[in-house]
Amino acid sequence: MKYANEISKRKSFAIIAHPDAGKTTLTEKFLLFGGAIQTAGAVKSNKIKKHTTSDFMEIERQRGISVATSVMTFEYRDILVNLLDTPGHKDFAEDTYRTLTAVDSVVLVIDCVKGVEEQTERLMEVCRMRDTPVIIFVNKMDRDGKYPFDLLDELEEKLNIRVRPLSWPINMGSDFKGVYNLYHKSFVAFQPNKKATDDDIVPLSDLSSSFVDEHFNTKDAAQLRGDVELIEGVYDTFNREDYLAGKLAPVFFGSAVNNFGVKDLLDTFVDIAPTPRNREATSREVDVNEDKFSGFVFKIHANLDPRHRDRIAFLRVCSGKFERNKFYHHVRLDKDVRFSNPYSFLAREKNVVDDAFPGDVVGLFDTGNFKIGDTLTEGENFYITGIPSFSPELFKELVNKDPMKTKQLEKGIRQLTDEGVAQLFTQHGGNRKIIGCVGELQFEVIQYRLLQEYGAACQFNTLPFYKACWLTGPKDKIEEFIRFKSSNIVEDKDGHLVYLAQSEWYLNTERTNNPDIQFNFTSEIH
Ligand code: G4P
Repeated sequence: MKYANEISKRKSFAIIAHPDAGKTTLTEKFLLFGGAIQTAGAVKSNKIKKHTTSDFMEIERQRGISVATSVMTFEYRDILVNLLDTPGHKDFAEDTYRTLTAVDSVVLVIDCVKGVEEQTERLMEVCRMRDTPVIIFVNKMDRDGKYPFDLLDELEEKLNIRVRPLSWPINMGSDFKGVYNLYHKSFVAFQPNKKATDDDIVPLSDLSSSFVDEHFNTKDAAQLRGDVELIEGVYDTFNREDYLAGKLAPVFFGSAVNNFGVKDLLDTFVDIAPTPRNREATSREVDVNEDKFSGFVFKIHANLDPRHRDRIAFLRVCSGKFERNKFYHHVRLDKDVRFSNPYSFLAREKNVVDDAFPGDVVGLFDTGNFKIGDTLTEGENFYITGIPSFSPELFKELVNKDPMKTKQLEKGIRQLTDEGVAQLFTQHGGNRKIIGCVGELQFEVIQYRLLQEYGAACQFNTLPFYKACWLTGPKDKIEEFIRFKSSNIVEDKDGHLVYLAQSEWYLNTERTNNPDIQFNFTSEIH
């Protein structure tokens, strides 16, 4: 328990959202409150603006900018908040999924006009896999959006989680009057573009008070009283334990661009969000309070600029204290490594750090020693678990265009997939290589990098597969299945058997014909 003080001071989280919901804007407001930046506009959106597939170098350039903002650390009310950024572009969604394994909770931003969008559902699935606590921020209340009660229903239904409003809007759009905080029983009037201070909060424990009649017109007063009565009647009182168990998501309403409702959100986050938690590992649970250090790599960023061919591995500290220049055990390589220039990320500036504690993220310079999921310890052999691999959406065969460069191609594709750029599958009992990606962009990145970095020319042939299914079940049943389906069977990088289904119809048929076998769309790296 040597580091209990450090641990209790830290909260690490990510803001997730469908692109355009307001993640960048909210991030910026948080940093302003945390004093980490002084002016609005200082946070560069890592949103990738170009959508054409031929422009991936531009996208990579923009991604390069986002390295500096990958982790933003700021202090708010004596809490050290680590905010991990996630890429917005769909083609890099896997990066986001992995980042979610490195945080202890998330804030989910929803656009009140659009409601729950496609990427939000996927992101929430990942949160639910690990029971990550979620706070929901319904943004853009200055616009005419969906009716709040309908939104709550939509959240419960599509995100498959119970919700509990902790603040409640009085109208929306041009008629937006403000929010009533159901948790602290107070009211804040909507004032665009103002940094809220404690003076703006009006305590309002009793809604029958004359303040409501004086402040609102008859319709709004009746609506507020009616809504709150309904909420208190329908929803149980907020239970923090349920939130921490990932079963209940508190909901806030506001407008990030107007800095409205953001302080409420941040204050509540600091009050209720979890401090760094224990982590599952392959042989045991790692207690966050253990004195010995452990951590794992959840993201690797390679620089595509040929003049700066460095990679940064992002390591989340899980227990103990990480120290600069100290030797740690690299479990997969079974060797001891040390780092003379580990980085911490204080709002867009990279600083060399001497030590880091559970919940922190450090950036380690890497020359190819790391792959996603690697664990560093003080001698013990285990891997931190929970990093997911999802079925890709697109499958292409990797074809070598230059037989003289076979070795380079093999090395290149191994290293790139170690970085998590894409997934590599190898034909079961053969040597054909199949690359699985979420978006077309990733194929272009691979082709470009194989040529530039490894001198290997390749081409991709599209394959008619729709999903990769990791097979689990009784050994004899699986062996029988793969004998009959050999042309659809591949192995992932860890040798796990995977069935590639041509269509949903084929998959359903196989499921019906093989009831003892599970066809999983997800696998864990360890
Ligand atoms: P993202 O990172 O989730 O992709 O979203 P981002 O914060 O970039 O916000 C997307 C757009 O929504 C931005 O407008 C932003 O100004 C706007 N926005 C954010 N919060 C609110 C809000 O509370 N109300 C309203 N009405 N708009 C909001 P943009 O025109 O795309 O970019 P910009 O030129 O304004 O930066």
